[in-house]
Amino acid sequence: MDHFLYRDGILHAEDVAIPDIAAAVGTPFYVYSTATLERHYRLFEEALAPLPHLVCFAVKSNGNLAVLKTLARLGAGMDVVSGGEYLRARAAGVPGDRIVFSGVGKTRAEMRQALEGGIRQFNVESEPELLALSEVAAGLGVTAPIAIRVNPDVDARTHEKIATGKKENKFGIPIARARDVYAEASRLPGIEVVGIDVHIGSQLTELEPFEQAYTKVAELTRALRDDGHRISRLDLGGGLGIPYERSNSAPPLPVEYGAVIKRTVGDLGCEIEIEPGRLISGNAGLLVASVIYLKHGEGRDFLILDAAMNDLVRPSMYGAHHDIVPVIEPAPAAERRPYDIVGPVCETGDTFAKDRPLPPVAAGDLVAFRSAGAYGAVMASEYNARPLVPEVLVAGDQFAVIRARPTFEEMLNRDSIPSWL
Ligand code: LLP
Repeated sequence: MDHFLYRDGILHAEDVAIPDIAAAVGTPFYVYSTATLERHYRLFEEALAPLPHLVCFAVKSNGNLAVLKTLARLGAGMDVVSGGEYLRARAAGVPGDRIVFSGVGKTRAEMRQALEGGIRQFNVESEPELLALSEVAAGLGVTAPIAIRVNPDVDARTHEKIATGKKENKFGIPIARARDVYAEASRLPGIEVVGIDVHIGSQLTELEPFEQAYTKVAELTRALRDDGHRISRLDLGGGLGIPYERSNSAPPLPVEYGAVIKRTVGDLGCEIEIEPGRLISGNAGLLVASVIYLKHGEGRDFLILDAAMNDLVRPSMYGAHHDIVPVIEPAPAAERRPYDIVGPVCETGDTFAKDRPLPPVAAGDLVAFRSAGAYGAVMASEYNARPLVPEVLVAGDQFAVIRARPTFEEMLNRDSIPSWL
């Protein structure tokens, strides 16, 4: 169910009218729906039941403390990839034993931080990392629970910048080498092997690549058990895609994804972990912007917004599509005309969409980018000295600013002038 609907001709987030938030916060801003976050989390819970499991939300997709707390309240675990994300998860009330730590470049300081603060498992991506982790853990007099991330050499059939499971990608250990590396791990004093980890990419719109990868993980589980390892957990990563274009795409549902998991690894007696980000937070958020100008160019019309590539980088970075809709519902018969929808940043790359058909729009109108709750605010920057875009959370008829727009004074005060100037 969609919690961003027109009511009486005005786009709402749950029971809150978007123009009311715009009046209170100013544009641009992100707005998230609690009901959507909760619903999507529960879809995964239901998809994996009755297998023993933990749904670990990928903090990288949306790390706002209020978003994390919304999910933590439901019992969610978290997948983190930096010391900063680890601290965010802890600050949102997530216990260490529900946090998995992924990523190819964990530093010793980050390892120590997680070992001291409490951690469910490290997903180890290389032999040097394994050795470093063993040393850090042994130095603290503890053992680090680990899964080794294997690279199954599967084509995720997604955008090349977010595919991770092919042998040419920087992620994981080639699955053919896994037995050797597990043997090495079991000999290290600071390491306790608990499972296997795999993640093949993001925005996957087919189940087949998951099926291939998880089948390989099931084979590896049996082989490693034959070698004497205790494999009690399988972390199957994230990556299930969402329908960015409502009109023409329908990626598989969590329940269908759950069926693949049950079919491939369900009989191994392992606890299943998954790390979904986008499917939980993506369609739980809008980016709302105002039209600054309508500009008639040579043979094309530009819609210039007050949001830019620094606020939502996905279109410039990946050529990603986001549906863009007017906040005031157009008449059903309204004529649609193509616009190039752009931001104010001084780069041609600051283009959200080309030749996008839109009903009549005017300067001052509000528009909303759909599916902007994942990899939106977290990837924002202050390029062109534009303040970081604020975030708002809606729950029913309430809304609250969950990250305020910084003032220019705050932005200036972060710099300092050296004594010789
Ligand atoms: N686990 C690991 C180890 C990951 O690397 C990722 C995403 C996830 C889980 C969550 O994947 P999801 O369920 O959200 O697809 N910035 C890009 C997406 C980068 C994804 C990176 N890793 C975008 O805007 O499309």
